[in-house]
Amino acid sequence: MMYHALMQAAERVRRKAYCPYSHFAVGAALLAEDGTIYTGCNVENGSYSLGCCAERVAFFKAVSDGRKKFQAIAICGAPEGEEPDKPCPPCGACRQVMAEFCGDDFEVVLSDRIHLLGALLPTRFKLE
Ligand code: THU
Repeated sequence: MMYHALMQAAERVRRKAYCPYSHFAVGAALLAEDGTIYTGCNVENGSYSLGCCAERVAFFKAVSDGRKKFQAIAICGAPEGEEPDKPCPPCGACRQVMAEFCGDDFEVVLSDRIHLLGALLPTRFKLE
């Protein structure tokens, strides 16, 4: 099943997380409309605020590869060295980045169930 494969890709890339400051490792796998999967992990920095979430890494990789339409993203996160069993909902900034490219029906796959972007971010900023 696609959602299972997507979560597996998120779990795999989570092992690459660079998180020596928070020790919280996150992985994300973004499914583009054409079926391509783009993965991302969180990448922290000694200048703390410069770090980037896993979800945004995945989106920026995809967009820089020419993709702008997406179906779903799977996300998993937990303290480094632990299994990600609890759901890891995306932060507000990442929800806004998702909303730049995705509609209310975009699927956010967490370990508990599938959430819709329209429910996670019911009112979003649009530059218009
Ligand atoms: N983090 C993500 O990668 N995605 C989220 O949606 C929330 C938080 C990362 C940022 C930071 O490296 C670590 O988790 C702890 O906040």
